[in-house]
Amino acid sequence: MVCLGNICRSPLAAGILTEQLKKMNIEGTVDSAGFEPYHRGDHPDERAQEVARQHDIDISGNIARLFRKDDFDTYDKIYVMDSHNYHDVMRVARNENDKKKVDYILNALKPGSNDEVPDPYYGGRQQFMEVYKLLEKACDSIASSLNK
Ligand code: 4NP
Repeated sequence: MVCLGNICRSPLAAGILTEQLKKMNIEGTVDSAGFEPYHRGDHPDERAQEVARQHDIDISGNIARLFRKDDFDTYDKIYVMDSHNYHDVMRVARNENDKKKVDYILNALKPGSNDEVPDPYYGGRQQFMEVYKLLEKACDSIASSLNK
């Protein structure tokens, strides 16, 4: 899961998908990263932690990190939140195989739409709740497709 700061959207997405895989008994490793170093080393934004906690998901242990080229080797899929993240990831892709792994997370709901998960950082708790709901639906769809 990739966003900009790795403190709001991508740790939430990783926490949600991890929980859904666990519930469905699907083995897998989910991680998150960003491209913006301002928050490197930080725990998730308090508002992201809170909305996760309200859904019994604990993301407090995540430590923000930058995306690395070897994430393409470690992970089968790279989900991005918006077009900014998409271009960031595609810019460091080494080959066609890397590029094929990258998709907008909301394409799990509407393939090819390239819809974006809005950045809630400058918003309020309502924005974080809306982001949570979007990510929950998308992660549900991802987990269900892995279950087939
Ligand atoms: P995220 O949100 O990309 O969902 O983690 C942001 C967090 C921090 C900043 C921007 C977006 N920032 O500019 O510091």
